[in-house]
Amino acid sequence: MCGIVGYIGPKQAQPILIESLKRLEYRGYDSAGIAIINEETKKTSKKSELIFRKDQGTIDNLTSILDNNTISGRVGISHTRWATHGPPSKKNAHPHIDCTGKLALVHNGIIENYNQLKDKLIKKGHEIVSETDTEILVHLIEDNYNGDLAMAVRKSLKTVKGSYAIAVIHETEPDRIVVARNESPLILGVGSNENFIASDVPAVLKYTKRVIYLHNKEISIVNNNSIEIMDLDGNTIERDWQEITWNLEDAEKGGFEHYMLKEIFEETKAIREVLRGRVGEIIFPELSIYSNTIFHGIKIIACGTSYHASLTGKYIFERLTRLPTTVEMASEYRYSEPTHDTPLVILITQSGETADTLAAAREARRRGCRTIALTNVVGSSITREVDDIIYIRVGPEISVAATKSFVGQLITLYLLAIFIAEVLGHLKPEPAKELKETLRTLPSVVERVVNNTSEIKNMVKSLVSAKHIFYIGRNINYPSALEGALKLKEISYIHAEGFPAGELKHGPLALLTKDTPVIAILSKDHTYDKIVSNLIEASARNAPVIAITSESDDEIQNIADQVLYYPDVPSLFSPVPVAVILQLVAYYTAKKCGCTIDKPRNLAKSVTVE
Ligand code: G6P
Repeated sequence: MCGIVGYIGPKQAQPILIESLKRLEYRGYDSAGIAIINEETKKTSKKSELIFRKDQGTIDNLTSILDNNTISGRVGISHTRWATHGPPSKKNAHPHIDCTGKLALVHNGIIENYNQLKDKLIKKGHEIVSETDTEILVHLIEDNYNGDLAMAVRKSLKTVKGSYAIAVIHETEPDRIVVARNESPLILGVGSNENFIASDVPAVLKYTKRVIYLHNKEISIVNNNSIEIMDLDGNTIERDWQEITWNLEDAEKGGFEHYMLKEIFEETKAIREVLRGRVGEIIFPELSIYSNTIFHGIKIIACGTSYHASLTGKYIFERLTRLPTTVEMASEYRYSEPTHDTPLVILITQSGETADTLAAAREARRRGCRTIALTNVVGSSITREVDDIIYIRVGPEISVAATKSFVGQLITLYLLAIFIAEVLGHLKPEPAKELKETLRTLPSVVERVVNNTSEIKNMVKSLVSAKHIFYIGRNINYPSALEGALKLKEISYIHAEGFPAGELKHGPLALLTKDTPVIAILSKDHTYDKIVSNLIEASARNAPVIAITSESDDEIQNIADQVLYYPDVPSLFSPVPVAVILQLVAYYTAKKCGCTIDKPRNLAKSVTVE
């Protein structure tokens, strides 16, 4: 989703803005632009002059435009756009400029009442040139501008409905960038005699590890050596910076061809990190759930891959805590009828910025539920919307396709389920001890999977020419089938669907041919025989069948065309090695198909619009 970067300081802004913007490429975008206040203008009588360039396409494309037209200046803003209102095009790209040509603005989010505002502004004589909601903002600020940019921004935002992270510069106030946010992420990077703004931490990490998180409905005036934060009424807000504990290498490829592969290989370390200090006596000091807290059930809410982790969580919670557990897509939760009982609501979001999940968190609280967020991003928006926060601690994830964050979410869900089961007295010490011991083995289980990719690389040859691929699983590996299919379609663009294996015969079977591979996920438990039958049904329709099963399964090679094995683990934990295999299947298939992998078309890492 759109990326924002800003710089103010003693150095030339352009190279810093371009370099930082590149670190936000992972968010997904279709156009890029830059605006700088040039103070060495000789052509005009002005002391400083706003100069901007923008175009549809990549940051490299923008750089090639700038190659012959370098903009000199020490304050500037830049942007990558992910189209919402109006297709990708030069005129719709950011920055947007006001009628005077002095004011530039970049925006991430959606201005919901832009049509009403647009009519009023047109009546006042503003000429709107793009199809975007964003351009309305720049004219609104122009309309309210009376020599004080921050005041004009505050006044304008009071009339705006919707989500925004904005950065604004004005050529007559070259000593400042004015920024504001509501529902879309924005951070301020604190340097020495220079300051930065960005949508996400990796953009500023090369320059500073000190970061201030802007909260909703706050604006900030960022100068070389000061950062002033206030609410929309102008009341000052004191906020200290926080030190980022990871470094740029954590967010770089480190010799891997793609971030996605690097992040899959980091899963061993990531699991250890999630478990660190939490397994033994499982404690979540960050949680305020006490033994006398009564929940009548658990509801888990999320989007995308996090939704699939939530579905796996349902099986884990029901098995261990005995509490009825439901899962809802965040975008649908608001339409559901509130239940009579007050459940514990767990919101899962790796980014902490997904607009639908944030809205669901607010709705859950409005309904009187106790809320816990599972997120990977310290200081992200979700952390301000819930009662309790658990960080999954897997480090930065750059590839759009979520991998290590998914595995981190699963491990956190096991821990949380064991914790709640123990608090509620549903888990006796001996079985609890066994579960924890199994959790401790998972890093080495995953290590064995990632160190043995040859079978996977060989198997994917049979997938690359397929138009449709079906994934089937039962019980706790039904969500694994959904996630396997999602991963494949996201990055290889091959149509893939996941089904509960028992549903194959209620429709999908009609689509099976020799060109429709079926990937079946098995574990040696009470579901095994049934899924083997489903696999045979698929084979009888000439579909090539690929089984993913545990090492001790010595029957399946007689039935399936190909088999991928994972190290033996109790079936409750099988989604972990299965997830890693499915991620590698998606990765190597996409690689064979020649896809871009880390930045799949049309997708964004962090979806900040509803
Ligand atoms: C986007 C990403 C997915 C992610 C989903 C939810 O669609 O491309 O990888 O699973 O958002 O993101 P969240 O940050 O809430 O987990």
